Amino acid sequence: MSSTEGLLAGRRIVVTGGASGMGATLVGGYVRAGATVASLDLNPVAGEEVVKAAQPADRDAARFTTCDVTDRSSVDHAFDAATGWLGGLDVLVHAAGINHAAKAEDVTTEDWDRVMAVNATGTLHTNQAAFRALRAGGGAIVNFASGAAVRGYLDHGHYAASKGAVLSWTRTVAAEWGRHGITVNALCPGIRTPMYERTRAGLTPEELARHDAWLAENIVVGGRLGDPELDFLPYLVFLASPGARYITGQTLSVDGGHTMMR
Ligand SMILES: NC(=O)c1ccc[n+]([C@@H]2O[C@H](COP(=O)([O-])OP(=O)(O)OC[C@H]3O[C@@H](n4cnc5c(N)ncnc54)[C@H](O)[C@@H]3O)[C@@H](O)[C@H]2O)c1
Repeated sequence: MSSTEGLLAGRRIVVTGGASGMGATLVGGYVRAGATVASLDLNPVAGEEVVKAAQPADRDAARFTTCDVTDRSSVDHAFDAATGWLGGLDVLVHAAGINHAAKAEDVTTEDWDRVMAVNATGTLHTNQAAFRALRAGGGAIVNFASGAAVRGYLDHGHYAASKGAVLSWTRTVAAEWGRHGITVNALCPGIRTPMYERTRAGLTPEELARHDAWLAENIVVGGRLGDPELDFLPYLVFLASPGARYITGQTLSVDGGHTMMR
């Protein structure tokens, strides 16, 4: 029996970015913890596979809907389908996002707009859709920011800026929506996922050596990015549970200490 089994019994959860990485971990992990999960993502092939693997034998616990978070009508349709099937909503975990590398002086307007459209505007669309479903009964929203928003991120200025927008938005709507019983928090993860592997693959051997030395120095627990199941999932189960209802407007790091102030 896993340590999270049953903790989310009866919870109705939408996970964006559910086709890969941390979102995919959450689809399977939340179902094992007893929740019913609607997974939304741009990638229907991987998204359906994740849902199929998550499905338990004894109940209809996970469904996938294609959704582009940059497109308001796509988000609204996907949320209508998801909340109709779930019979309401308790939690949105908004993990969909993209990363892109470019030196600050080389970031094009198109690079900037694409990263902002997914990471910042996608947060607007999904949070507003969740608000409409949560305002009557309350619930939780967890947005995915990044340590990049706090510390900056060399050669990823537009990504860091988009995640800075997520942090500021999160604090503001936490203050506005608290009176509806809605908590809103922002997560700064440091977890090994396909996005991180793509970032590593783009580095030269010298850059990779510098990166690994930096991790060894700055990630004070273990010296490397965390494991999705062991280091990330248990915390995210707690954040989706009723026990987290008094936590709001926070920047929450699950990253082995890499964004700590010192
Ligand atoms: N991996 C890390 O350590 C790390 C660190 C800081 C922040 N983050 C953030 O955490 C989140 C999850 O990252 P991950 O590492 O699991 O990444 P990932 O690339 O493995 O997964 C991201 C998912 O988002 C989906 N997506 C992208 N654009 C979309 C769109 N327009 N509409 C709907 N879905 C879309 C992708 O299809 C993919 O399934 C992202 O927001 C990322 O920026 C990750």
